[in-house]
Amino acid sequence: MIQTLPTAPIAGMKPGTSGLRKKVTEFAAGNYLPNFVQSVFDAVRPQGGLGGLTLVVGGDGRYYNLQAIQTVIRMAAANGFGRVLVGQGGILSTPAASCVIRQHHAFGGLILSASHNPGGPDGDFGIKFNGANGGPAAEKVTDAIYACTLKITAYRSTDTPDIDLGRIGTTQVEGMSVHVIDPVADYLALMRRLFDFDALQRLFASGFTLAFDAMHAVTGPYAHAIFERELGAAPGTVRHGTPLPDFGGHHPDPNLVHARELYDLMMSPQAPDLGAASDGDGDRNLIIGRGLFVAPSDSLAMLAANAHLAPAYAKGIVGIARSMPTSGAADRVAQALGVPCYETPTGWKFFGNLLDAGKVTLCGEESAGTGSDHVREKDGIWAVLLWLNVLAVRRQSVAQVAHEHWARYGRNYYTRHDYEDVDSAAAQALMQAVAAQLPTLAGATLDGRPVVIADDFSYLDPIDASVSKHQGLRIVFADGSRIVYRLSGTGTSGATLRVYIERFEGDAARHGLDTQEALADLIALADRVAGIRQRTGREVPSVIT
Ligand code: G1P
Ligand code: ZN
Repeated sequence: MIQTLPTAPIAGMKPGTSGLRKKVTEFAAGNYLPNFVQSVFDAVRPQGGLGGLTLVVGGDGRYYNLQAIQTVIRMAAANGFGRVLVGQGGILSTPAASCVIRQHHAFGGLILSASHNPGGPDGDFGIKFNGANGGPAAEKVTDAIYACTLKITAYRSTDTPDIDLGRIGTTQVEGMSVHVIDPVADYLALMRRLFDFDALQRLFASGFTLAFDAMHAVTGPYAHAIFERELGAAPGTVRHGTPLPDFGGHHPDPNLVHARELYDLMMSPQAPDLGAASDGDGDRNLIIGRGLFVAPSDSLAMLAANAHLAPAYAKGIVGIARSMPTSGAADRVAQALGVPCYETPTGWKFFGNLLDAGKVTLCGEESAGTGSDHVREKDGIWAVLLWLNVLAVRRQSVAQVAHEHWARYGRNYYTRHDYEDVDSAAAQALMQAVAAQLPTLAGATLDGRPVVIADDFSYLDPIDASVSKHQGLRIVFADGSRIVYRLSGTGTSGATLRVYIERFEGDAARHGLDTQEALADLIALADRVAGIRQRTGREVPSVIT
């Protein structure tokens, strides 16, 4: 029976860059989930209502995923949807959800994940809405959802029993059909169309070795199916391949701290040809060659320079987009290719308009996100497949590809220093102190370096003319070196300060330096300008990438 249940607004419902993220304990208590889901339905309901429309639902398998999906299904039925497509076992990686939405011409999807944040009863949970293009809702939509959460008085649900999510098949809930689908099939079919699977099979048959760390998160089933079963990589290629509700107690963030085991393997004499990892919901990627970590900003540039080697991009790319804090390495490739390179704020949603308008083919962020116009999310497995395709055609190692790239385009030394769980007031004060200096810095010199831009980054979307302000404080020097300060929008406890530092090196004799040493002067300067150690009370960053 369809019911209208009373509820009331709850504080803290403003969706951030990737939807609503909270501790599980907060999500599970009270009406966070029903309030958010009803607010989404109310905010996006078209003129003709939701009747007959298709909704895609799935998540990264973390704790609370299954309960949340049952709630979403009941509410979708009560709100009049015609059809729900849900991944078997409640599983859909974020890029696979984007693929399924597009493939089945769905109205949109609800993706349940807190990305790379830890899971389990004490971990994080999250939910976001993606529209018919398969991408995260634009800011005007998330603002409308938020507005609904402030005035909500009731939500619609049903008292129907739980759906069996373990079995592929179709069930009816109050006149709505629920299709439990294979979470991998549509995505695999798309990957087959993009890449030369025959060449990749030959690559593995020739003895090429891959270590893929799924971090006990959502990419396990995709990686087993694609790398091992389709492409013939040896059993054991996929590590930590079973999704677990608490990610095995680990932090499913493929960086050099949390994917340490993979990093150590890649630096050891036993290293396979390629090491890769993905995060909780499968949209991030980590790429490590034998003995060489490829910084995500470099990976974007190298993939852009070589994308034409894969069938999907054989005609060339039309443009690149990168988030502002991402290094300028991709800009150099774009320039050489004679295509534009757009600089957007942090967050994948800013790429959506450019992709939909056909202005760019590849996009990427320094935070281990790379993707293309094949879906509207960044895509971890896709990035690994594109690297494999490039290596298969060039018959070179990752290190050879990287060094040849730097020799041709120069090297953008790049690092990000994160200070996690910093006192929020101290972090705000730090940002204000830097912001206050910006007007005097523009045109001045710092340590003998002329400053050409000192501002709070603001973005004018070239497609819909919307403006996004306060996207990071940047100090750009005449030689292209940069220091950028930003507060994270995805952390769930305290504040996370991110400091991004970059320097261009054109001299090939200096392309083999240690990154932290190559950037030491600028790192010290970044601390001096912002008083990081003194204001945060931290001597060293929590994570260095
Ligand atoms: C972080 C990354 C950003 C990415 C987002 C979602 O956001 O920096 O590039 O789009 O996660 O994966 P932040 O915590 O910096 O706001
Ligand atoms: Zn993610």
